Amino acid sequence: MTKDIFIVGGARPNFMKIAPLIKEFKRQNIKFKLIHTGQHYDYNMSKIFFDNLGIVKPDYFLNVGSGSHAVQTAKIMVEFEKILIKESPNLIIVVGDVNSTIACALVTKKLNTELAHIEAGLRSFDVKMPEEINRRLTDQIADYLFVTEESGVINLKNEGIDSSRIFFVGNMMIDTLISNLEKARKTNFYKALDLICGSYGLVTIHRPSNVDSREDLERIIEKLNFIQSKIKIVFPIHPRTRKNMKKFNLDLELNKSNIILTEPLGYLDFLNLMINAKLIITDSGGIQEEASYLKIPILTLRKNTERPITVEKGTNTLIGNDFSKLKINLENVLSNSYKKGQNIEKWDGKTSQRIVAIIKEKVL
Ligand code: UD1
Repeated sequence: MTKDIFIVGGARPNFMKIAPLIKEFKRQNIKFKLIHTGQHYDYNMSKIFFDNLGIVKPDYFLNVGSGSHAVQTAKIMVEFEKILIKESPNLIIVVGDVNSTIACALVTKKLNTELAHIEAGLRSFDVKMPEEINRRLTDQIADYLFVTEESGVINLKNEGIDSSRIFFVGNMMIDTLISNLEKARKTNFYKALDLICGSYGLVTIHRPSNVDSREDLERIIEKLNFIQSKIKIVFPIHPRTRKNMKKFNLDLELNKSNIILTEPLGYLDFLNLMINAKLIITDSGGIQEEASYLKIPILTLRKNTERPITVEKGTNTLIGNDFSKLKINLENVLSNSYKKGQNIEKWDGKTSQRIVAIIKEKVL
């Protein structure tokens, strides 16, 4: 008997995690359906990633859009349940930690369907982050937990999850990165912005804890003003950050003399900017992993990370709100005395093969 598999994606960081799975399913002639919740809907937050990564057109687009957490999560649940009832698939695969992840996980398990979670086990231990809540709850109910780094296995065991559900397989984002590296090199996007290789910093900031209050956003702007006095910055602005800069009237506070502001970028252009950067400044989760794989110095403007391997073995340093820590580490990067980073276990481009082998053994 053939089994039906659904893959769910909804927000920008999901698309890099589903692309290699889709490629591997196709290579092995395994049928699946793709559901896009529509949590992210702008061309440059969604469709460009489908185009860049060659992801098939979704079988269902739920078109839920933005809203408060309750509204967004509830809308996804209502729409996703309709499809599940109609199609009765055997396995749902969710990825990451966004609202689409927990919404579809809840619907799946309440309909007694098997659930796999890719990127399970990561913990920041900071329940003020919506992503931490989404991760913890999804992991509690998932049947197959695919983990990116050793800390994830330990976290899941500490939460009482049986070892038989946990699979340390590596990192899907790194599969995507490896398979697109050559293409990304060739876009030469950094040249289109008149940048010189190895002489600029790349910035992304969008976490609610950094941009949702005036005080927090002011602190970020203060740091960016300092960094741009030392090195040129490229800053693709996330819609949440742009909106809040306007809302708090902080547009003029940012000293733009040494900053290039852009819209959110596609995968290949952004990767091109990463590989040619001197350093990266971020509060993103995934970028800590990508920079560590590429061995590019990365300063994370957060107090914690759910990806500790990027600090232990990678090129990541947690800066939090500490200005002096920022100054010292920036100085180390600019004088080439910053840590170099090591290879990380199972971040080798073969994670999708490992996951599909387990799905074949356990589910199909
Ligand atoms: C979401 C994820 C976060 C992830 C981030 C990457 C949750 C809880 N958060 O946060 O984990 O790191 O995506 O981007 O799921 N907006 C647009 N166009 C879009 C999408 C959003 O303008 O295509 C605007 C919305 O109007 C909204 C804001 O951006 O006000 C934030 O979008 P939302 O999906 O709520 O969360 P993100 O901050 O993007």
